[in-house]
Amino acid sequence: MTDLTPTADIHARAVMTEIDWLSDVIAARLRHFFGAGDAPFAPPAAPTLPKGAALTDLITEAGLDTSARLVLALALAPQVNPAALDPFFVRNTAIDRLFSEFGAARQDGTSFVPSAVTALFLLGGVDTARRIAAMTLFSPDHPLRRIVGLVPGQSHDPAAVASGTLYAGPLTLPAFRVATLCSGRAPEPDFSPQFPAKRLRSGMKWDDLILPREVKHGIDHVSAWLENRQTILHDWGMESRLGAGFKALFYGPPGTGKTLTATMLGQRTGLEVYRIDLAMVVSKYIGETEKNLSQVFDMAEQRDWILFFDEADALFGARGATSSANDRHANQEVSYLLQRIEECSGLVILATNLRSNIDEAFFRRFQMAVGFPKPDAALRTELWRNILRSVPLQDDVDIVAIARDHTLAGGAINNVVRHAAISALRRNATHVSARDLQQAIAGEMRKEGRTG
Ligand SMILES: Nc1ncnc2c1ncn2[C@@H]1O[C@H](COP(=O)(O)OP(=O)(O)OP(=O)(O)O)[C@@H](O)[C@H]1O
Ligand SMILES: [Mg+2]
Repeated sequence: MTDLTPTADIHARAVMTEIDWLSDVIAARLRHFFGAGDAPFAPPAAPTLPKGAALTDLITEAGLDTSARLVLALALAPQVNPAALDPFFVRNTAIDRLFSEFGAARQDGTSFVPSAVTALFLLGGVDTARRIAAMTLFSPDHPLRRIVGLVPGQSHDPAAVASGTLYAGPLTLPAFRVATLCSGRAPEPDFSPQFPAKRLRSGMKWDDLILPREVKHGIDHVSAWLENRQTILHDWGMESRLGAGFKALFYGPPGTGKTLTATMLGQRTGLEVYRIDLAMVVSKYIGETEKNLSQVFDMAEQRDWILFFDEADALFGARGATSSANDRHANQEVSYLLQRIEECSGLVILATNLRSNIDEAFFRRFQMAVGFPKPDAALRTELWRNILRSVPLQDDVDIVAIARDHTLAGGAINNVVRHAAISALRRNATHVSARDLQQAIAGEMRKEGRTG
């Protein structure tokens, strides 16, 4: 039988230990706040967490000290154990409200929503000097800020007003982070308007990629970057100069292998590849775009995803003259997107069919531009051979001739083979014939608006 004891899991155990510690700190701080003020505040010592737990690893990797750990625990509490924050519900009888010192980001619900002000209170009480010292935890370059987010809120606390309402809004911790900390495994996000990115997968292998030598060389270069970036950026100290990210542009006609190549790059380097639907992002959800996209970028950076933007033309297209308010809005979102792409610390690939639409300034943003040409006769032969390798063929099929006579790209060849296989089986044949293939090719040509 599986062990269902809630404490059996090392990850959950670490989180619970940390929240217990938070409860102790809250209790001690409140005792100090309500008690005789003169005694120095003695915070309970932070616990030693089990080795190998997701929380332990995160704390070590991000280099979080005790104060930063406490903020992380505070951000975790509402999602893991909101009752840990109940002691803050003491009402200030003088004004019949919660004590503003406690920094509730919201006071309406049934649970206490902590803010950065709450954290400052836990760390510094009402001692202004200590509170100011603790504010460095929330500066944009503190490692904690890559984990715990701040959302602007309404403030009742003068200190918070002074520093902008950022300190008064809820501390945020993305759902995937909570899940990872509690279970050790990150769930895969669902594709939705709120999360407009979908994982790319393929049953194909690196060796199935059939590309001209110089294109393969370019792709090998990107893959070598992924494999060696630690050495280049850290050991050779180039991160400050080069930035951690890498941007590649894949351009070429439909069905030439751009999406497949991005997928294979992930497979080869052990990284997950997520495709972002730009059409969905830029046009439909005006206003929500930044929020939705920033989620995708945050996750990509935290989990080292490869981001693949398909039909990136939407990015160049919208940059022209604007007429309507909608256009202007789309332009703003495009600017935001371009900026995030520029700053992203991972590999970002943009794919497009329209090389000619891209202006030089845009081109310079890429570390690498790879053109995917229509395959020549020799590559087409390879493509046909590869896809037909376990398909039973009638003797009259001449692959070399078919490849030579029809200028189809890989995607179109797939369609043809699928269609021909269906035709063969519909006439109860055991083998695909030359005629099945010819008819399917004619159909595919018509579809592409071509003849012969
Ligand atoms: N160079 C290639 N090598 C091997 N297979 C290929 C190649 N190009 C295309 N294919 C086959 O065609 C399918 C479709 O290709 P893919 O989706 O990668 O094209 P694309 O360039 O992204 O097209 P689009 O511009 O329409 O998005 C692939 O999944 C693969 O089976
Ligand atoms: Mg594609």
